Amino acid sequence: MESNLRDLVQYYLPTFPLRRVRRLVDDTTDFTSITYGDVIHLGGRHYMVLRDEAERRFGIEDFKFWVKRCKCLETGESAILKLVFHEEFTQQIGSMSIRSFRSQNKEARILNLVRGDMRFMQGTAERDEAGNLVRILDVIRGKRFDTVIDNLPGDHRHYYENDLYRMMELLIAGCEAIDFLHRHYEQHGDVRRDHLWMETGTGKVRWIDFDYAYETRANPFALDLFGLGNSLLFTVGKQIYTPQTFAHMESGRNVRDTDFSPVIKNRLVNLRRLFPYIPRELNNVLMHFSQGAEIHYDSVEELLGDLRPCLELLPKQTERRAS
Ligand SMILES: Nc1ncnc2c1ncn2[C@@H]1O[C@H](COP(=O)(O)OP(=O)(O)O)[C@@H](O)[C@H]1O
Ligand SMILES: [Mg+2]
Repeated sequence: MESNLRDLVQYYLPTFPLRRVRRLVDDTTDFTSITYGDVIHLGGRHYMVLRDEAERRFGIEDFKFWVKRCKCLETGESAILKLVFHEEFTQQIGSMSIRSFRSQNKEARILNLVRGDMRFMQGTAERDEAGNLVRILDVIRGKRFDTVIDNLPGDHRHYYENDLYRMMELLIAGCEAIDFLHRHYEQHGDVRRDHLWMETGTGKVRWIDFDYAYETRANPFALDLFGLGNSLLFTVGKQIYTPQTFAHMESGRNVRDTDFSPVIKNRLVNLRRLFPYIPRELNNVLMHFSQGAEIHYDSVEELLGDLRPCLELLPKQTERRAS
């Protein structure tokens, strides 16, 4: 078998160093032991494991040992294999504690639902020999949406005048995608600005990572909405503002307690306090996610109903760029 495997790798991937070829893996249960040089056998195909995927959060690289970057030997395509990871945890959102778990079935179901809809990552699911439902994902070539925004030049005013319109168009498309899921009685489950990616080739945004599920008592749509609110806040502000980040700003003196998020207490929601040129209508959308909010959005559709008209109030890209 070992020599067969080497032959197979040599045939399909002649540039791969043969001495680094390890095992043929039919059972992915023990995902931590699967590493560079292993070949995962799945759905009649072979996937050379190259590395673990990682998420960069708070400046540190968080390795995901169950998410493997691979190359399919038969097709030559890159693929991400998401292996079954049974994890249960409690999320604390304000005063709510929500029992959450990973569900490979939910992710596979959503992959089926969104097939061909490029607002979402694409992929299929196959069972390995031990019955684990592995998600085989097409790799999105692009950057996290928050990184794209973070990399835009200039201060907030410059961003507002040149780029916010375009970024809002993208975020609205992202909200519409989540609305689509909700209309099909599905939840994304982990709406965060780093799970929205901007594809380099098309300039469009796409959602990744659908495996979080909740105990039925939790309102999953509310959680997705909360995630969209946070993403919107980042998009409008170009960053997240806390008392530390606006301490040096003259306009920061006007900030009140009710201007913050009720959930993440030091997160400023009322951005118009700092940037009075933000249209009142857009700021009002943000204020639905603030401590002082009297009404909340019940659905993404409702959020979109308020958000779409705001687009026309924003400056379109100035002529300067074009010239
Ligand atoms: N379809 C994809 N295209 C490109 N990168 C992806 C894709 N799916 C996952 N990744 C990368 O792998 C990381 C971990 O995958 P993710 O699905 O978020 O796992 P987890 O559920 O453990 O957070 C992502 O943050 C991203 O960097
Ligand atoms: Mg993730």
